[in-house]
Amino acid sequence: MAIISDDNNLGIKFEKKNPIIKAENIEYDNTFESSIRPKDFDSYIGQTALKETLKITLEAAKKRGKPLDHLLFYGPPGLGKTTVAGVIASQMGVEIKITSAPALERPRDIIGILMSLKGGEILFIDEIHRLNKVAEEILYPAMEDFTLDMTTGKSQTAKTLRIPLPKFTLIGATTKAGELSSPLRDRFGMIHRLEFYTVEELAEVVKRTAKILELEITNDGAIAIAMRSRGTPRIANRLVKRVSDFAIVKYDGIIDKNVANESLDILKIDEFGLDNTDRALLNLIINKYDGGPVGIETIAAALSEDIKTIEDVCEPYLLQAGLLQRTPRGRKVSPEGYRHLGIKMPSQQKKLFEDIL
Ligand code: ADE
Repeated sequence: MAIISDDNNLGIKFEKKNPIIKAENIEYDNTFESSIRPKDFDSYIGQTALKETLKITLEAAKKRGKPLDHLLFYGPPGLGKTTVAGVIASQMGVEIKITSAPALERPRDIIGILMSLKGGEILFIDEIHRLNKVAEEILYPAMEDFTLDMTTGKSQTAKTLRIPLPKFTLIGATTKAGELSSPLRDRFGMIHRLEFYTVEELAEVVKRTAKILELEITNDGAIAIAMRSRGTPRIANRLVKRVSDFAIVKYDGIIDKNVANESLDILKIDEFGLDNTDRALLNLIINKYDGGPVGIETIAAALSEDIKTIEDVCEPYLLQAGLLQRTPRGRKVSPEGYRHLGIKMPSQQKKLFEDIL
């Protein structure tokens, strides 16, 4: 239960007819990414299993005339958690309000947004694992009973205020499902992991984006970009733009396999989609720490990167591609990682690795 004191330093006052709470901290989504986002399931490529489940859930909610259960999406960044939320909203014909946990610092931030919702609307909270305790406790009754439970006044004169909220759907997104508290996790009716995309799926994403941007691209060109996109549509879309710059300036504007590969070579994105930071990370572990294991703090300090960027951006794909391994004693480069960098794995290291496996 959220506690609001009389002298409330939350800056919130209730007036009968005219509450002064406004929805703040709502992000308006007008980036390049949002301009090419699919708006319905037909144009949304990949995540087939998730799509099939959602279609049924949405139809059932519509038939019952009830809002959707609260949903939690988790997985590495760039796989389309916000995009799926947008598709759900447009398929349900409702508004979506997008915010992220770090923007909900003060209790009034979350209260303001909850009070601004209308029936059936979707509230999307990105990075939901970063919600603070107070905001989380405000969310519990809001999610469960659609109420805001608040106490005003001090001890003896304290009054409990129970404000009804319209029935809404919360969609939470996180790269770290494990960091969500269990009471919060338990209040989601559905929890889904988003998977990395296949090269074929990414090539479709690339072709769709090229069409929206009115770029000419061959099938081979799309596959070449897809192969270096680390299983991630956000990266594929960024690479389409970068490669199209090269195609326009250095070639005849058409993106084919050669144009794509040469541009990506110049951008130092290799055949696995690794960039300079990824290679620096693998090289560091090999050259300075005999292939590992080495702790994440040491790696971050040596690369002058923050731990979060390494954990959330670099590592998920290096692990998935089998180039890196996470062990209780730290990170190790796998034989595949050595091979990828063209470095021979010392036999002693190879033996250690085989022992772990
Ligand atoms: N752009 C980003 N993600 C996409 C997806 N899953 N399908 C189509 N276009 C996309």
